[in-house]
Amino acid sequence: KKTENQILVIFGASGDLTARKLIPALFNLYVARQLPKNFVVLGASRSDLTDEEFRNRVVYESPYLKEKIEDLKENYIQGFADKIFYEDLGGTYDTAYDGLRKRVEGLKKDFQTSGNIIYYLSTPPTLYETIAQRLADAGMNTQNNGWKRLIVEKPFGYSLDTARKLNQGLHQFFTEPQIYRIDHYLGKETVQNLLVTRFSNSIFEPLWNRNYIHHVEITNAESVGVEKRGGYYDKSGALRDMFQNHLLQIVSLVVMEPPIGDQPEEIRNEKVKALKSLRIMKDEKTLWDNTIRAQYVASEVNGKKVKGYREEEGVDPNSTTETYAAIKFFVDNWRWEGVPFYVRTAKRMPTKVTEVVIHFKTPHHQIFKDSGVNSKDNKLIIRIQPDEGILMKFGVKVPGQGFKVERANLDFYYSSLAETYVMEAYERLLLDAMQGDATLYARADEVEAAWEFVDPILDYWKNGKDVRMYGYSAGVWGPENADELIDDLGTWRNPGAS
Ligand code: BG6
Repeated sequence: KKTENQILVIFGASGDLTARKLIPALFNLYVARQLPKNFVVLGASRSDLTDEEFRNRVVYESPYLKEKIEDLKENYIQGFADKIFYEDLGGTYDTAYDGLRKRVEGLKKDFQTSGNIIYYLSTPPTLYETIAQRLADAGMNTQNNGWKRLIVEKPFGYSLDTARKLNQGLHQFFTEPQIYRIDHYLGKETVQNLLVTRFSNSIFEPLWNRNYIHHVEITNAESVGVEKRGGYYDKSGALRDMFQNHLLQIVSLVVMEPPIGDQPEEIRNEKVKALKSLRIMKDEKTLWDNTIRAQYVASEVNGKKVKGYREEEGVDPNSTTETYAAIKFFVDNWRWEGVPFYVRTAKRMPTKVTEVVIHFKTPHHQIFKDSGVNSKDNKLIIRIQPDEGILMKFGVKVPGQGFKVERANLDFYYSSLAETYVMEAYERLLLDAMQGDATLYARADEVEAAWEFVDPILDYWKNGKDVRMYGYSAGVWGPENADELIDDLGTWRNPGAS
Protein backbone atom coordinates (compact mmCIF):
# COMPACT_ATOMS: atom_id res chain seq x y z
CA LYS A 1 0.00 0.00 0.00
CA LYS A 2 1.11 3.53 -0.65
CA THR A 3 1.78 5.97 2.18
CA GLU A 4 1.16 9.48 0.94
CA ASN A 5 3.17 12.48 2.06
CA GLN A 6 1.71 13.89 5.25
CA ILE A 7 2.11 15.68 8.57
CA LEU A 8 1.46 14.02 11.90
CA VAL A 9 0.41 16.44 14.62
CA ILE A 10 0.56 14.94 18.11
CA PHE A 11 -1.49 16.67 20.79
CA GLY A 12 -0.20 15.93 24.26
CA ALA A 13 3.29 15.52 22.82
CA SER A 14 5.11 16.24 26.07
CA GLY A 15 3.34 13.28 27.70
CA ASP A 16 4.60 9.82 28.35
CA LEU A 17 2.94 8.05 25.40
CA THR A 18 4.73 10.15 22.79
CA ALA A 19 8.18 9.34 24.12
CA ARG A 20 7.41 5.77 25.16
CA LYS A 21 5.39 4.50 22.20
CA LEU A 22 4.79 6.93 19.34
CA ILE A 23 8.27 8.23 18.62
CA PRO A 24 9.88 4.78 18.93
CA ALA A 25 7.22 3.39 16.58
CA LEU A 26 7.89 6.17 14.08
CA PHE A 27 11.60 5.59 14.43
CA ASN A 28 11.19 1.91 13.60
CA LEU A 29 9.10 2.84 10.59
CA TYR A 30 11.82 5.28 9.55
CA VAL A 31 14.52 2.63 9.86
CA ALA A 32 12.35 0.20 7.89
CA ARG A 33 11.88 2.92 5.24
CA GLN A 34 8.14 2.87 5.70
CA LEU A 35 7.64 6.60 6.25
CA PRO A 36 6.64 8.64 3.24
CA LYS A 37 9.29 10.71 1.53
CA ASN A 38 7.95 14.03 2.70
CA PHE A 39 6.91 13.58 6.28
CA VAL A 40 6.94 15.72 9.39
CA VAL A 41 5.93 15.20 13.02
CA LEU A 42 4.71 18.24 14.88
CA GLY A 43 4.38 17.79 18.62
CA ALA A 44 1.95 20.17 20.28
CA SER A 45 1.19 20.65 23.95
CA ARG A 46 1.06 23.14 26.79
CA SER A 47 4.72 22.81 27.71
CA ASP A 48 7.09 25.54 26.78
CA LEU A 49 9.64 23.72 24.63
CA THR A 50 11.67 24.57 21.56
CA ASP A 51 12.07 22.19 18.61
CA GLU A 52 15.53 21.41 19.89
CA GLU A 53 14.39 20.67 23.43
CA PHE A 54 11.59 18.45 22.16
CA ARG A 55 13.99 16.51 19.93
CA ASN A 56 16.34 16.02 22.82
CA ARG A 57 13.55 14.76 24.97
CA VAL A 58 11.96 12.32 22.54
CA VAL A 59 14.96 11.31 20.43
CA TYR A 60 18.52 12.11 21.51
CA GLU A 61 18.04 11.70 25.26
CA SER A 62 15.08 9.36 25.22
CA PRO A 63 15.51 6.25 27.35
CA TYR A 64 13.05 4.53 25.01
CA LEU A 65 15.27 4.99 21.97
CA LYS A 66 18.58 4.45 23.70
CA GLU A 67 18.99 0.81 22.73
CA LYS A 68 17.64 1.31 19.25
CA ILE A 69 20.01 4.12 18.37
CA GLU A 70 23.14 2.84 20.02
CA ASP A 71 24.36 0.93 16.98
CA LEU A 72 23.22 3.44 14.40
CA LYS A 73 25.20 6.21 12.80
CA GLU A 74 24.77 9.74 14.13
CA ASN A 75 23.62 11.21 10.81
CA TYR A 76 20.99 8.53 10.54
CA ILE A 77 19.48 9.54 13.87
CA GLN A 78 19.70 13.16 12.87
CA GLY A 79 17.84 12.35 9.68
CA PHE A 80 14.97 11.18 11.82
CA ALA A 81 15.18 13.95 14.42
CA ASP A 82 15.15 16.56 11.65
CA LYS A 83 11.59 15.53 10.85
CA ILE A 84 10.41 16.42 14.34
CA PHE A 85 9.13 19.84 15.42
CA TYR A 86 7.30 21.31 18.35
CA GLU A 87 4.61 23.92 18.83
CA ASP A 88 3.80 25.36 22.24
CA LEU A 89 0.05 25.91 22.47
CA GLY A 90 0.57 28.46 25.20
CA GLY A 91 -0.82 27.07 28.41
CA THR A 92 -4.13 25.62 27.24
CA TYR A 93 -5.62 23.43 24.51
CA ASP A 94 -8.77 25.51 24.57
CA THR A 95 -7.46 28.41 22.60
CA ALA A 96 -7.47 29.67 19.02
CA TYR A 97 -5.22 27.47 16.89
CA ASP A 98 -4.06 30.23 14.55
CA GLY A 99 -0.46 29.80 15.60
CA LEU A 100 -0.70 26.07 15.11
CA ARG A 101 -2.30 26.49 11.71
CA LYS A 102 0.44 28.81 10.55
CA ARG A 103 3.07 26.42 11.79
CA VAL A 104 1.44 23.52 9.96
CA GLU A 105 1.20 25.57 6.79
CA GLY A 106 4.84 26.58 7.08
CA LEU A 107 5.96 22.98 7.51
CA LYS A 108 3.74 21.88 4.66
CA LYS A 109 5.44 24.38 2.40
CA ASP A 110 8.98 23.75 3.58
CA PHE A 111 8.72 19.98 3.37
CA GLN A 112 6.13 19.67 0.62
CA THR A 113 4.06 17.31 2.67
CA SER A 114 0.84 18.20 0.87
CA GLY A 115 -2.27 18.98 2.90
CA ASN A 116 -2.65 15.49 4.34
CA ILE A 117 -2.69 15.66 8.11
CA ILE A 118 -3.20 13.21 10.96
CA TYR A 119 -4.11 14.71 14.33
CA TYR A 120 -3.18 12.32 17.11
CA LEU A 121 -5.01 13.00 20.38
CA SER A 122 -2.89 11.82 23.25
CA THR A 123 -4.12 14.29 25.85
CA PRO A 124 -6.45 13.61 28.78
CA PRO A 125 -9.73 12.44 27.20
CA THR A 126 -11.66 15.40 28.58
CA LEU A 127 -9.88 17.51 25.96
CA TYR A 128 -10.69 15.42 22.87
CA GLU A 129 -13.81 17.30 21.91
CA THR A 130 -12.30 20.69 22.67
CA ILE A 131 -9.34 19.97 20.41
CA ALA A 132 -11.61 18.73 17.61
CA GLN A 133 -13.66 21.88 17.93
CA ARG A 134 -10.64 24.17 17.98
CA LEU A 135 -9.26 22.45 14.90
CA ALA A 136 -12.58 23.01 13.16
CA ASP A 137 -12.67 26.68 14.27
CA ALA A 138 -9.30 27.15 12.62
CA GLY A 139 -10.54 25.43 9.45
CA MET A 140 -8.06 22.62 9.98
CA ASN A 141 -10.57 19.80 9.54
CA THR A 142 -11.51 20.56 5.96
CA GLN A 143 -10.52 18.02 3.37
CA ASN A 144 -10.52 20.13 0.23
CA ASN A 145 -6.74 20.39 0.21
CA GLY A 146 -5.71 16.94 1.39
CA TRP A 147 -7.27 14.48 3.83
CA LYS A 148 -7.50 15.02 7.58
CA ARG A 149 -7.63 12.14 10.06
CA LEU A 150 -8.08 12.07 13.79
CA ILE A 151 -6.53 9.32 15.90
CA VAL A 152 -8.06 9.09 19.35
CA GLU A 153 -6.25 7.37 22.20
CA LYS A 154 -7.98 5.34 24.86
CA PRO A 155 -9.92 5.58 27.10
CA PHE A 156 -12.81 6.24 24.76
CA GLY A 157 -15.46 7.27 27.25
CA TYR A 158 -15.94 6.36 30.87
CA SER A 159 -19.34 4.75 30.39
CA LEU A 160 -21.88 4.20 27.62
CA ASP A 161 -23.25 7.66 28.11
CA THR A 162 -19.90 9.45 28.00
CA ALA A 163 -18.77 7.35 25.01
CA ARG A 164 -21.93 8.29 23.12
CA LYS A 165 -21.47 11.94 23.96
CA LEU A 166 -17.87 11.81 22.85
CA ASN A 167 -18.87 10.21 19.56
CA GLN A 168 -21.53 12.84 19.01
CA GLY A 169 -19.09 15.59 19.99
CA LEU A 170 -16.39 14.43 17.58
CA HIS A 171 -18.89 13.83 14.80
CA GLN A 172 -19.74 17.52 14.78
CA PHE A 173 -16.27 18.25 13.47
CA PHE A 174 -14.98 15.04 11.88
CA THR A 175 -16.87 12.37 9.98
CA GLU A 176 -16.73 8.77 11.15
CA PRO A 177 -14.38 7.66 8.34
CA GLN A 178 -11.95 10.35 9.50
CA ILE A 179 -11.86 9.04 13.07
CA TYR A 180 -9.44 6.29 14.16
CA ARG A 181 -10.04 5.01 17.71
CA ILE A 182 -6.93 3.23 18.81
CA ASP A 183 -6.88 -0.07 20.67
CA HIS A 184 -3.32 -1.22 20.73
CA TYR A 185 -4.31 -4.86 21.21
CA LEU A 186 -5.58 -4.85 17.64
CA GLY A 187 -2.07 -3.96 16.57
CA LYS A 188 -0.71 -7.17 18.05
CA GLU A 189 0.14 -9.82 15.47
CA THR A 190 -1.44 -12.66 17.39
CA VAL A 191 -4.70 -10.79 17.86
CA GLN A 192 -4.88 -10.29 14.11
CA ASN A 193 -3.92 -13.90 13.68
CA LEU A 194 -7.19 -14.89 15.32
CA LEU A 195 -8.84 -13.89 12.05
CA VAL A 196 -6.38 -15.88 9.98
CA THR A 197 -6.56 -18.95 12.21
CA ARG A 198 -10.32 -18.97 11.95
CA PHE A 199 -10.98 -17.89 8.40
CA SER A 200 -8.03 -19.08 6.45
CA ASN A 201 -8.01 -22.68 7.63
CA SER A 202 -10.65 -25.27 7.12
CA ILE A 203 -9.78 -27.37 10.14
CA PHE A 204 -10.91 -25.01 12.92
CA GLU A 205 -13.97 -23.20 11.65
CA PRO A 206 -16.25 -26.24 11.33
CA LEU A 207 -15.66 -26.90 15.04
CA TRP A 208 -15.98 -23.27 16.07
CA ASN A 209 -19.46 -23.41 17.54
CA ARG A 210 -21.76 -24.69 20.26
CA ASN A 211 -21.72 -28.24 18.92
CA TYR A 212 -18.04 -28.74 19.63
CA ILE A 213 -16.91 -26.01 21.98
CA HIS A 214 -17.59 -26.52 25.65
CA HIS A 215 -16.44 -23.14 26.88
CA VAL A 216 -14.05 -20.33 26.07
CA GLU A 217 -11.59 -18.91 28.53
CA ILE A 218 -9.62 -15.71 28.09
CA THR A 219 -6.94 -14.61 30.51
CA ASN A 220 -5.09 -11.36 30.53
CA ALA A 221 -2.61 -11.20 33.36
CA GLU A 222 0.05 -8.66 34.20
CA SER A 223 2.66 -9.11 36.87
CA VAL A 224 3.09 -5.38 37.41
CA GLY A 225 0.88 -3.37 39.74
CA VAL A 226 -0.48 0.05 38.82
CA GLU A 227 3.07 1.45 38.71
CA LYS A 228 3.07 5.24 38.56
CA ARG A 229 -0.45 5.48 37.16
CA GLY A 230 -2.36 5.19 40.44
CA GLY A 231 -4.15 8.50 39.92
CA TYR A 232 -5.51 7.47 36.52
CA TYR A 233 -6.12 3.85 37.41
CA ASP A 234 -8.07 4.53 40.57
CA LYS A 235 -10.71 6.31 38.51
CA SER A 236 -10.69 3.54 35.96
CA GLY A 237 -10.18 -0.02 37.21
CA ALA A 238 -9.60 -3.29 35.40
CA LEU A 239 -12.99 -3.34 33.70
CA ARG A 240 -12.57 0.05 32.06
CA ASP A 241 -8.82 -0.12 31.60
CA MET A 242 -8.61 -3.55 29.94
CA PHE A 243 -11.92 -5.33 29.60
CA GLN A 244 -14.15 -2.83 27.83
CA ASN A 245 -11.57 -2.30 25.12
CA HIS A 246 -8.78 -4.84 24.71
CA LEU A 247 -10.56 -7.94 25.98
CA LEU A 248 -13.87 -7.29 24.29
CA GLN A 249 -11.94 -6.71 21.07
CA ILE A 250 -10.44 -10.17 21.47
CA VAL A 251 -13.87 -11.57 22.33
CA SER A 252 -15.36 -10.03 19.19
CA LEU A 253 -12.72 -11.71 17.03
CA VAL A 254 -13.37 -15.08 18.66
CA VAL A 255 -17.14 -14.72 18.43
CA MET A 256 -17.68 -13.01 15.06
CA GLU A 257 -19.15 -14.63 11.97
CA PRO A 258 -16.99 -14.90 8.85
CA PRO A 259 -16.89 -11.51 7.13
CA ILE A 260 -17.62 -11.44 3.42
CA GLY A 261 -14.18 -10.01 2.68
CA ASP A 262 -11.17 -8.33 4.24
CA GLN A 263 -12.24 -4.72 3.78
CA PRO A 264 -12.35 -2.60 6.96
CA GLU A 265 -16.12 -2.21 7.04
CA GLU A 266 -16.72 -5.85 6.22
CA ILE A 267 -14.68 -6.91 9.23
CA ARG A 268 -15.92 -4.17 11.52
CA ASN A 269 -19.57 -4.90 10.72
CA GLU A 270 -19.14 -8.46 11.92
CA LYS A 271 -17.34 -7.36 15.06
CA VAL A 272 -20.14 -5.00 15.97
CA LYS A 273 -22.69 -7.74 15.39
CA ALA A 274 -20.67 -10.03 17.67
CA LEU A 275 -20.52 -7.44 20.45
CA LYS A 276 -24.21 -6.80 20.14
CA SER A 277 -24.92 -10.47 20.68
CA LEU A 278 -23.27 -10.59 24.12
CA ARG A 279 -26.01 -11.22 26.65
CA ILE A 280 -26.31 -8.13 28.80
CA MET A 281 -26.59 -8.90 32.50
CA LYS A 282 -29.50 -7.05 33.92
CA ASP A 283 -30.55 -8.26 37.32
CA GLU A 284 -28.53 -8.32 40.52
CA LYS A 285 -28.66 -12.08 40.87
CA THR A 286 -27.10 -12.61 37.45
CA LEU A 287 -24.50 -9.96 38.14
CA TRP A 288 -23.72 -11.47 41.52
CA ASP A 289 -23.35 -14.94 40.03
CA ASN A 290 -21.26 -13.95 37.04
CA THR A 291 -18.90 -11.20 38.06
CA ILE A 292 -16.01 -11.11 40.51
CA ARG A 293 -13.86 -8.16 41.38
CA ALA A 294 -10.85 -7.95 43.63
CA GLN A 295 -7.87 -5.86 44.67
CA TYR A 296 -4.33 -6.95 45.34
CA VAL A 297 -3.17 -6.65 48.91
CA ALA A 298 0.32 -6.19 50.31
CA SER A 299 2.43 -9.31 50.21
CA GLU A 300 5.80 -10.71 49.31
CA VAL A 301 6.72 -11.72 45.78
CA ASN A 302 10.01 -13.56 45.27
CA GLY A 303 11.22 -12.38 48.63
CA LYS A 304 10.40 -8.74 47.85
CA LYS A 305 7.74 -6.77 49.72
CA VAL A 306 5.02 -5.48 47.42
CA LYS A 307 2.56 -2.73 48.28
CA GLY A 308 -1.15 -3.38 48.37
CA TYR A 309 -3.26 -1.51 45.83
CA ARG A 310 -4.68 0.85 48.43
CA GLU A 311 -1.17 1.87 49.49
CA GLU A 312 -0.11 2.78 45.96
CA GLU A 313 0.66 6.39 45.16
CA GLY A 314 -2.36 8.29 43.86
CA VAL A 315 -4.83 5.65 45.10
CA ASP A 316 -7.53 6.41 47.64
CA PRO A 317 -6.81 4.41 50.84
CA ASN A 318 -10.48 3.35 50.85
CA SER A 319 -10.59 2.71 47.12
CA THR A 320 -13.13 0.26 45.73
CA THR A 321 -11.49 0.18 42.31
CA GLU A 322 -10.84 -3.35 41.08
CA THR A 323 -7.43 -4.54 39.93
CA TYR A 324 -8.89 -7.95 39.11
CA ALA A 325 -12.07 -8.64 37.18
CA ALA A 326 -13.50 -11.99 36.12
CA ILE A 327 -16.70 -12.13 34.10
CA LYS A 328 -18.74 -15.08 32.91
CA PHE A 329 -21.17 -14.43 30.10
CA PHE A 330 -23.09 -15.96 27.22
CA VAL A 331 -23.46 -15.00 23.61
CA ASP A 332 -26.99 -14.97 22.28
CA ASN A 333 -26.72 -16.13 18.71
CA TRP A 334 -26.99 -19.28 16.67
CA ARG A 335 -23.33 -20.18 16.85
CA TRP A 336 -22.73 -19.70 20.55
CA GLU A 337 -26.00 -20.39 22.34
CA GLY A 338 -25.27 -22.02 25.70
CA VAL A 339 -21.46 -21.76 25.52
CA PRO A 340 -20.09 -19.93 28.56
CA PHE A 341 -17.25 -17.43 28.16
CA TYR A 342 -14.94 -16.80 31.09
CA VAL A 343 -12.83 -13.70 30.81
CA ARG A 344 -10.49 -12.30 33.42
CA THR A 345 -7.95 -9.54 33.59
CA ALA A 346 -5.75 -8.45 36.46
CA LYS A 347 -2.62 -6.76 37.72
CA ARG A 348 -0.10 -8.36 40.08
CA MET A 349 -0.55 -11.88 38.79
CA PRO A 350 2.26 -14.44 38.91
CA THR A 351 3.24 -13.68 35.31
CA LYS A 352 2.44 -11.54 32.27
CA VAL A 353 0.37 -13.51 29.82
CA THR A 354 -2.61 -13.14 27.51
CA GLU A 355 -4.25 -16.16 25.99
CA VAL A 356 -7.49 -17.45 24.57
CA VAL A 357 -8.34 -21.06 25.35
CA ILE A 358 -10.96 -22.90 23.35
CA HIS A 359 -12.06 -25.92 25.40
CA PHE A 360 -13.66 -28.61 23.26
CA LYS A 361 -16.40 -30.96 24.35
CA THR A 362 -15.91 -34.55 25.38
CA PRO A 363 -16.40 -37.07 22.55
CA HIS A 364 -20.07 -38.07 22.42
CA HIS A 365 -19.38 -41.66 23.24
CA GLN A 366 -16.32 -42.38 25.31
CA ILE A 367 -14.80 -45.72 24.55
CA PHE A 368 -11.65 -45.39 26.59
CA LYS A 369 -13.37 -44.65 29.85
CA ASP A 370 -10.42 -45.22 32.10
CA SER A 371 -8.06 -43.46 29.81
CA GLY A 372 -7.34 -40.53 32.09
CA VAL A 373 -8.29 -38.04 29.39
CA ASN A 374 -11.44 -36.09 30.01
CA SER A 375 -13.50 -33.29 28.57
CA LYS A 376 -10.96 -30.62 29.33
CA ASP A 377 -8.18 -32.19 27.42
CA ASN A 378 -8.91 -31.05 23.88
CA LYS A 379 -7.86 -27.46 23.83
CA LEU A 380 -6.76 -24.90 21.34
CA ILE A 381 -4.73 -22.17 22.97
CA ILE A 382 -4.05 -18.94 21.21
CA ARG A 383 -1.18 -17.37 23.07
CA ILE A 384 -1.30 -13.67 22.43
CA GLN A 385 1.71 -12.78 24.56
CA PRO A 386 4.43 -13.58 25.44
CA ASP A 387 5.76 -16.63 23.53
CA GLU A 388 3.21 -15.85 20.84
CA GLY A 389 1.84 -18.95 19.26
CA ILE A 390 -0.89 -21.53 18.83
CA LEU A 391 -0.91 -24.61 20.99
CA MET A 392 -3.09 -27.65 20.54
CA LYS A 393 -3.63 -30.22 23.28
CA PHE A 394 -5.00 -33.64 22.49
CA GLY A 395 -4.89 -37.23 23.64
CA VAL A 396 -2.55 -39.92 22.26
CA LYS A 397 -2.17 -43.52 23.12
CA VAL A 398 0.61 -44.42 25.48
CA PRO A 399 2.69 -47.11 23.75
CA GLY A 400 2.15 -50.52 25.26
CA GLN A 401 -0.67 -52.77 26.24
CA GLY A 402 -4.21 -51.47 26.71
CA PHE A 403 -5.52 -48.03 25.85
CA LYS A 404 -3.98 -45.64 28.23
CA VAL A 405 -4.21 -42.12 26.87
CA GLU A 406 -1.91 -39.25 27.56
CA ARG A 407 -1.99 -35.66 26.56
CA ALA A 408 0.21 -34.53 23.71
CA ASN A 409 1.00 -31.06 22.39
CA LEU A 410 1.10 -29.77 18.88
CA ASP A 411 2.56 -26.35 19.35
CA PHE A 412 3.48 -23.56 17.00
CA TYR A 413 5.46 -20.56 18.20
CA TYR A 414 5.95 -17.37 16.25
CA SER A 415 9.56 -17.33 17.31
CA SER A 416 10.12 -20.19 14.89
CA LEU A 417 9.61 -17.64 12.12
CA ALA A 418 12.82 -16.12 13.38
CA GLU A 419 13.69 -14.18 10.27
CA THR A 420 10.43 -12.28 10.19
CA TYR A 421 10.41 -8.80 11.62
CA VAL A 422 7.33 -8.42 13.79
CA MET A 423 6.06 -4.87 13.96
CA GLU A 424 5.11 -3.53 17.34
CA ALA A 425 1.45 -2.66 17.87
CA TYR A 426 1.88 1.10 17.57
CA GLU A 427 4.01 0.78 14.46
CA ARG A 428 1.39 -1.25 12.69
CA LEU A 429 -1.46 0.96 13.80
CA LEU A 430 0.26 4.23 12.92
CA LEU A 431 1.20 2.94 9.51
CA ASP A 432 -2.37 1.76 8.91
CA ALA A 433 -3.79 5.17 9.81
CA MET A 434 -1.19 6.85 7.60
CA GLN A 435 -2.46 4.68 4.77
CA GLY A 436 -6.11 5.21 5.61
CA ASP A 437 -6.80 1.64 6.66
CA ALA A 438 -9.18 1.56 9.63
CA THR A 439 -9.58 -2.21 9.90
CA LEU A 440 -7.70 -2.34 13.19
CA TYR A 441 -9.39 0.70 14.68
CA ALA A 442 -12.64 0.67 16.64
CA ARG A 443 -15.70 2.19 15.02
CA ALA A 444 -18.19 4.37 16.93
CA ASP A 445 -20.89 1.72 17.13
CA GLU A 446 -18.33 -0.90 18.15
CA VAL A 447 -17.16 1.13 21.12
CA GLU A 448 -20.73 1.82 22.15
CA ALA A 449 -21.71 -1.85 21.88
CA ALA A 450 -18.81 -2.74 24.17
CA TRP A 451 -19.89 -0.13 26.71
CA GLU A 452 -23.44 -1.40 26.54
CA PHE A 453 -22.25 -4.74 27.87
CA VAL A 454 -19.93 -3.26 30.48
CA ASP A 455 -22.14 -0.50 31.86
CA PRO A 456 -24.51 -2.67 33.95
CA ILE A 457 -21.52 -4.42 35.56
CA LEU A 458 -19.93 -1.11 36.49
CA ASP A 459 -23.21 0.14 37.78
CA TYR A 460 -23.74 -2.99 39.86
CA TRP A 461 -20.23 -2.81 41.29
CA LYS A 462 -20.83 0.78 42.23
CA ASN A 463 -24.40 0.69 43.51
CA GLY A 464 -25.44 -2.94 43.92
CA LYS A 465 -26.45 -4.46 47.23
CA ASP A 466 -24.02 -6.94 48.77
CA VAL A 467 -21.35 -6.45 46.11
CA ARG A 468 -18.08 -7.83 47.34
CA MET A 469 -14.54 -6.67 46.87
CA TYR A 470 -12.21 -9.59 47.42
CA GLY A 471 -8.53 -9.34 48.16
CA TYR A 472 -5.72 -11.39 46.66
CA SER A 473 -2.04 -11.45 47.45
CA ALA A 474 0.20 -9.99 44.83
CA GLY A 475 1.74 -12.83 42.86
CA VAL A 476 -1.16 -15.30 43.00
CA TRP A 477 -3.85 -16.05 40.40
CA GLY A 478 -6.50 -13.79 41.96
CA PRO A 479 -9.01 -14.51 44.73
CA GLU A 480 -10.09 -18.07 45.39
CA ASN A 481 -13.69 -16.97 45.00
CA ALA A 482 -13.08 -16.58 41.28
CA ASP A 483 -12.97 -20.37 41.08
CA GLU A 484 -16.66 -20.37 41.94
CA LEU A 485 -17.39 -18.76 38.58
CA ILE A 486 -15.80 -21.61 36.74
CA ASP A 487 -16.65 -24.25 39.35
CA ASP A 488 -18.59 -26.69 37.25
CA LEU A 489 -15.63 -26.92 34.91
CA GLY A 490 -12.84 -27.43 37.36
CA THR A 491 -10.47 -24.52 37.49
CA TRP A 492 -9.09 -21.71 35.38
CA ARG A 493 -6.20 -22.62 33.20
CA ASN A 494 -3.41 -20.76 34.87
CA PRO A 495 -0.91 -20.31 32.06
CA GLY A 496 2.48 -21.58 32.76
CA ALA A 497 0.88 -24.95 33.39
CA SER A 498 0.93 -27.07 30.25
C1 BG6 B 1 -3.10 -0.44 28.63
C2 BG6 B 1 -3.57 -0.31 30.05
O1 BG6 B 1 -4.12 -0.13 27.74
O2 BG6 B 1 -2.67 -1.76 28.40
C3 BG6 B 1 -2.49 -0.71 31.03
O3 BG6 B 1 -3.97 1.02 30.31
C4 BG6 B 1 -1.95 -2.06 30.70
O4 BG6 B 1 -2.97 -0.69 32.37
C5 BG6 B 1 -1.59 -2.16 29.21
O5 BG6 B 1 -0.79 -2.27 31.48
C6 BG6 B 1 -1.23 -3.58 28.85
O6 BG6 B 1 -0.75 -3.63 27.53
P1 BG6 B 1 0.22 -4.78 27.03
O7 BG6 B 1 0.41 -4.51 25.59
O8 BG6 B 1 1.47 -4.67 27.84
O9 BG6 B 1 -0.49 -6.07 27.32
